Amino acid sequence: MAAKKLLLLPGDGIGPEAMAEVRKIVAYMNAELKSDFSLEEGLVGGCAYDAHGKAISESDMAKALAADAVLFGAVGGPKWDSVPYDVRPEAGLLRLRKDMELFANLRPAICYPALADSSSLKKEIVEGLDILIVRELTGGVYFGEPKEIRDLGNGQKRGIDTQVYDTYEIERISGVAFELARTRGNKVTSMEKRNVMKSGVLWNEVVTATHKAKYSDVKLEHMLADAGGMQLVRWPKQFDVIVTDNLFGDMLSDIAAMLTGSLGMLPSASLGAPDAKTGKRKALYEPVHGSAPDIAGTGAANPIAMIASFAMCLRYSFNMITEADRLEAAVAGVLDDGLRTGDIMSEGKTKIGTVEMGDAILAKFKALAA
Ligand code: IPM
Ligand code: MG
Repeated sequence: MAAKKLLLLPGDGIGPEAMAEVRKIVAYMNAELKSDFSLEEGLVGGCAYDAHGKAISESDMAKALAADAVLFGAVGGPKWDSVPYDVRPEAGLLRLRKDMELFANLRPAICYPALADSSSLKKEIVEGLDILIVRELTGGVYFGEPKEIRDLGNGQKRGIDTQVYDTYEIERISGVAFELARTRGNKVTSMEKRNVMKSGVLWNEVVTATHKAKYSDVKLEHMLADAGGMQLVRWPKQFDVIVTDNLFGDMLSDIAAMLTGSLGMLPSASLGAPDAKTGKRKALYEPVHGSAPDIAGTGAANPIAMIASFAMCLRYSFNMITEADRLEAAVAGVLDDGLRTGDIMSEGKTKIGTVEMGDAILAKFKALAA
């Protein structure tokens, strides 16, 4: 069997520190479990801009397209606040999403039992929470044209972004949501703003039609996206899978993430369509958190979201379900032992840094494999 080609794009800020902890896990899996990962590395974000004047170079883009999976850290920081818009750090991530056609962004929001007290909501509201947000990632207002600032010539300017969705885009993302719901709680909540947006009217129609045609065994409900945000905070456990567009998904997934106690805990997967010949999907895995420039280089970053992103990679790109389950159990186990990075620290727990957290998770992972 050919080696499993992984491209690491650690990026900026805490990205490289968090990625280093994944690298240790990969090294162990190659040495002891004969997992046969071959690693490549590239630059994305501000570091790529510093090296090449672009947020990702053509050769790193080619590596991403050739890889079986890409692991992405984080991009951006104050150092690059004033670089031109087209080459800002985020442009590297957006280009990867677009060129790899990663239309399906899976953002689980699970509340680890050990962290139920760290949520800003009451413990009984979040304990046992397990939601999956399925965010459309290659369309909508992020990419719609025109997208510009127009000079109106009268001293006024006009900022324009375009929200646009075609039938096929809504069909394929809702298909992903229904398929995943079947493997979980069998319920999908679709969120849009059909009361003010034409794209919302179409979204609602196409999701309803897709459900009727192929997935009527799954429970479907519709919610206006603003009400959905309110319900997420009021009673999050009513949700199983939420499917929504690119912009609403961006906002709703941050809300859902915070319910769980820390943004530093949550992974995500961005998947393309299955290849017609091989059945393989292009895929990129990244933590939901950002580059946290305020703590970068201090050794305080929480590597859990990055490690959990690698667990999603094992699950979705390589079908290594046992290893993925074990890695996730290792994370939960370390939290049960009371180990905490600063962002999730609470009274009576043991505060540790990035490297110690990575070591503790690897030790648990090894013990579970033994
Ligand atoms: C995310 C981020 C990105 C987005 C930024 C960094 C472009 O907020 O992945 O949620 O808006 O999609
Ligand atoms: Mg976001």
